[in-house]
Amino acid sequence: MKPIIVVHGGAGAWDLNSERFREAIAACEAAAAAGQAILLTGGPALDAVEAATRILEDAPPLDAGRGSYLNTAGQIELDALIMDGQTLRLGAVAAVQRVCNPISLARRIMTDTQHNFLVGAGAEAFADAIGFPRCELADLLVGGELEAYLALQHPAGYETAEIFTQPGAMGDTVGAVALDAAGNLAAATSTGGTRNKMPGRVGDSPLVGAGGYADNWTAAVSATGHGEALMRILISKQVCDFVAAGLSAQKACQAAIHLLEERVNGVGGLIAVDARGHVGLAYNTTAMPHAFALGDERLQSGS
Ligand code: GLY
Repeated sequence: MKPIIVVHGGAGAWDLNSERFREAIAACEAAAAAGQAILLTGGPALDAVEAATRILEDAPPLDAGRGSYLNTAGQIELDALIMDGQTLRLGAVAAVQRVCNPISLARRIMTDTQHNFLVGAGAEAFADAIGFPRCELADLLVGGELEAYLALQHPAGYETAEIFTQPGAMGDTVGAVALDAAGNLAAATSTGGTRNKMPGRVGDSPLVGAGGYADNWTAAVSATGHGEALMRILISKQVCDFVAAGLSAQKACQAAIHLLEERVNGVGGLIAVDARGHVGLAYNTTAMPHAFALGDERLQSGS
């Protein structure tokens, strides 16, 4: 099986001429390259999506890990999901603070606990109990996010979905999907959520079937966009169901974005790879920086 990795840096109203957008594309290329290197040495899809997502979490222009949006309390609360398409095992974390790489914490929840999903203080206590690296808020806060937070202290009708529609806004969330040489699929999604969200608000990203899904029988999917809408149609599982019904990964992503618009008036984007090795990409925002690699072919990237 030819291994495949696809990554995204978040659907949104990106300014395609901005330095931040160029940095976002570069981060996607670096993440896809890291995943490709793992896959080409026979590594598992799970390792590839985790490694790729860590690079995206570390990239300042993207809303995940370092560079995440602040909530109304001036905190950064992070959500992440990782899923193994071979076993359908998953790990997820939500509303966790002071963790630079929540995708790796999600994986440790999958491998080191009897549970699938830990949130808030419980997730942080688990992190400390296993010696998982913690960081400070200052390590996660970059760019102009503090200024954006201060400007929103007296918001005049600000809506959290503006990051997907306001020209020049960057959107949200990062993710990766992979197919390895053994034919196994995996998906990973990580986010800082939406700007000015309420403390404790959790979007689609860590919710299985919404922010991501992976099943060797169908596809691996990672979603981005306005979580309140995405979760209502379980958009990632919907892509897998479309693939099960006979659609290619590309057609399935397009059909799911159409459903998102028609059914819940939502905005967002999707990446997918199906079990036959076909790639899908779709979004209804201005852009969704992404990159992918098919086997040992040269990386492809775009908006
Ligand atoms: N899509 C990420 C969120 O809405 O939190």
